[in-house]
Amino acid sequence: MGTHLDNLLKPEARRTTFYDALVLDAKLRQSLVTMRSLGSRGLTVAALEVADVLQQSKHVPAFASRWCRRAYVAPSYLQQTDAFLDYLLHILDHTGAQVVIPSADGTLEVLRAHRETVAWRAQLALAKEEALAVATDKEKTLDIASRLGIGIPRGVSVQHVDEVPEAVRTVGLPAVVKPVESWLWGKGRGVRVISQLVTTHDEAREAVEKLTQYGGSTLFQQFLDGRREAISLFYADGTMYARFAQWAKRTQPPLGGTSVYRQSIALPEDITGQAERLVRAIELEGYSEVEFRRDSAGRPYLMEINPRLSASIEVAVRAGVDFPYLLYQWARGEKLERVTSYQTGGWMRFLEGDILTTVQALAQRGRPGVAPPAQSLLDFIAAFFTPAAYDYLDKDDIRPLWTATRDFLHRGVQRVIRGPSSRRNMQ
Ligand SMILES: Nc1ncnc2c1ncn2[C@@H]1O[C@H](COP(=O)(O)OP(=O)(O)O)[C@@H](O)[C@H]1O
Ligand SMILES: [Mg+2]
Repeated sequence: MGTHLDNLLKPEARRTTFYDALVLDAKLRQSLVTMRSLGSRGLTVAALEVADVLQQSKHVPAFASRWCRRAYVAPSYLQQTDAFLDYLLHILDHTGAQVVIPSADGTLEVLRAHRETVAWRAQLALAKEEALAVATDKEKTLDIASRLGIGIPRGVSVQHVDEVPEAVRTVGLPAVVKPVESWLWGKGRGVRVISQLVTTHDEAREAVEKLTQYGGSTLFQQFLDGRREAISLFYADGTMYARFAQWAKRTQPPLGGTSVYRQSIALPEDITGQAERLVRAIELEGYSEVEFRRDSAGRPYLMEINPRLSASIEVAVRAGVDFPYLLYQWARGEKLERVTSYQTGGWMRFLEGDILTTVQALAQRGRPGVAPPAQSLLDFIAAFFTPAAYDYLDKDDIRPLWTATRDFLHRGVQRVIRGPSSRRNMQ
């Protein structure tokens, strides 16, 4: 692991440090994928994570990558963003890093708030603010989508528990309660909030209470139990440079979580066109992942747009669509090559997530959308017999897998000692 500001200030370090890209949120899986993608193309990459993440566990897979020239540990931005920002600016000033790539909702928010200060020093791999303001707000996204004739889940907006009975009358149960924005600054600290499945009035009240405790509004939506499909796009200057589709067979947690077992698929006609129209309407440049879920009859409904690299990105990269590299080239203002095809049928598995989601499926048996215990176990075991790529595993860069395994074991031990800890953005 590398060192920090002191070393940067030394003149010799100043001469020798130079990065093509600084990858933020090093702990996230998509950050490791980004480092590997850029590093194996001969680019010089450094990674950054914040101190509170390292306090939970010091094992950061991307820091162990052979492509990681230096690992930076910045002060947290959860309580206040100043120290984090100062640290980031300092690195940029002293290393000449060309491009900054964020992947977490939290860093995205910090960069949006201080965009000009950062952009003055390095290129930000981010869409313009007007587009981000829509894409990070589910209500606004769904609004535009429905005007474009794209299917959206039946739903109402709920700000307060008192509105729950009316919402249940309109939408019915089971339902999904989800925050309008995934990242909230509440009580002087940033928190990521996630969707919840509710099956009774009490659960609905509880979920709304919990999700509105830091302010913010929730969406109360009909529950859809069909396939989860996502379209990844790369859009710039009016041109769609890449399109990719995948579906997630299992997510962790079973509802509202990050995808753990997923497969590249041919572009579905209906949602590919819809995703494109949406991204063009918002003028959302760069990478975006447009998430859909189908109902039992196969009709698609829009979930949301992620205007940042998501954990599922590796399926696309392995299938031949190198979104992180496109993102880098776009940020640098380089000419982009159109990607016209990719391999379909490739499975990818996040083993830690799959273990957890199988355990959760056993605990949540009988809940809507959760497979019966025998089926869950069988599916989990069957996946070992299906050829698949595994997250972290790369024969040309083996240390991150070992680091991820130690991290998993470390957190397992912590969980036993302290009980379950709060969930960070894993998507
Ligand atoms: N109305 C719904 N019915 C069924 N599943 C849903 C619904 N809304 C969300 N989900 C599931 O939860 C996941 C997360 O919801 P999403 O809207 O993408 O919010 P976020 O990813 O910001 O937490 C979706 O990908 C989907 O699998
Ligand atoms: Mg999502």
